[in-house]
Amino acid sequence: MNQAGFIVSDNCVGCGKCIQVCPGGVLYMGRDKKPHIREFEAFGWNGCWRCEHCLAVCPEGAVSILHHRPEDSLPAPDPDTAGPLLDSLITNRRSCRRYRKRNVPADIIENMTARLANAPNGGNKQLVEFTLIDDVEEMDYFRNIAYREMERLAAHGIYPEGFGKEAYEDMKRWEKTVRPDMLFCGVPHILIPHAPLGQGKPVQDVIIAGTYFELLCASRGLGTIMMTFPLSVLKLMPEVKAMLQIPEEHYIGMIIGFGYPQIPYARGTQRILEQKRLHRLTFDRRQEN
Ligand SMILES: Cc1cc2nc3c(=O)[nH]c(=O)nc-3n(C[C@H](O)[C@H](O)[C@H](O)COP(=O)(O)O)c2cc1C
Repeated sequence: MNQAGFIVSDNCVGCGKCIQVCPGGVLYMGRDKKPHIREFEAFGWNGCWRCEHCLAVCPEGAVSILHHRPEDSLPAPDPDTAGPLLDSLITNRRSCRRYRKRNVPADIIENMTARLANAPNGGNKQLVEFTLIDDVEEMDYFRNIAYREMERLAAHGIYPEGFGKEAYEDMKRWEKTVRPDMLFCGVPHILIPHAPLGQGKPVQDVIIAGTYFELLCASRGLGTIMMTFPLSVLKLMPEVKAMLQIPEEHYIGMIIGFGYPQIPYARGTQRILEQKRLHRLTFDRRQEN
């Protein structure tokens, strides 16, 4: 066994699929017609990527890696049921801006956050970190401080990006008549994916992790809202932003609010991807001659 803990059981039939899918190219077929792992210096580009494709692809369930056993994996989805289910999740997911004031149980949140290790990310470097407020009272505490500061700044003529005095006052009026919390949409919890700049692909990785999280929430009957507005507001108040304890050199793409929706929706939306947004390519091969 080497540092990746690659183990092949007697069930291996030597099909070589694990070797074909390995992105790091660290597996090879031995004279014994079984896959082996070569020595490598470090996990990453020139070594094992820790992607577990070898474990996942093996039809015989013969490959263990990183101390993970194939029998502990979730089974592959059945396209006949998974396709319609995902369609339903995607069309029924929508930005929720009204929430019940109650905590999502910790085990549900833990189960969803654990799945985020499966979000695709540059080179499977797994650099995305997640800042979580999972308690309604903690969120209210943070919300109140941010609100107080936003109002203090507005009194000095400093408004959030894109806002002038008039637009800000409009927002305040809407808060009295439409929704009380325009800044955080009344969310009971937030999850903020963030990743170090200068390593991997932080911008893409953070957005993908956030998107996966929204769908995980949708699958558990939770509402979500991706928010960038509070980020631009927090930019104006470094001391409040510092309360989030996110390193300065980390990229933050959005704040995701989530919780039990106050107003359940009865059906999916029917938005259409207009043909003009889909650019289907065919090439003019005559130019070759
Ligand atoms: C990057 C990004 C930033 C967003 N920021 C906000 C926000 O600050 N406040 C808000 O109410 N909605 C925000 N939204 C939600 C969008 O308004 C919403 O996705 C859009 O209206 C489509 O509606 P749907 O999510 O229900 O399909 C944001 C969405 C994205 C993807």
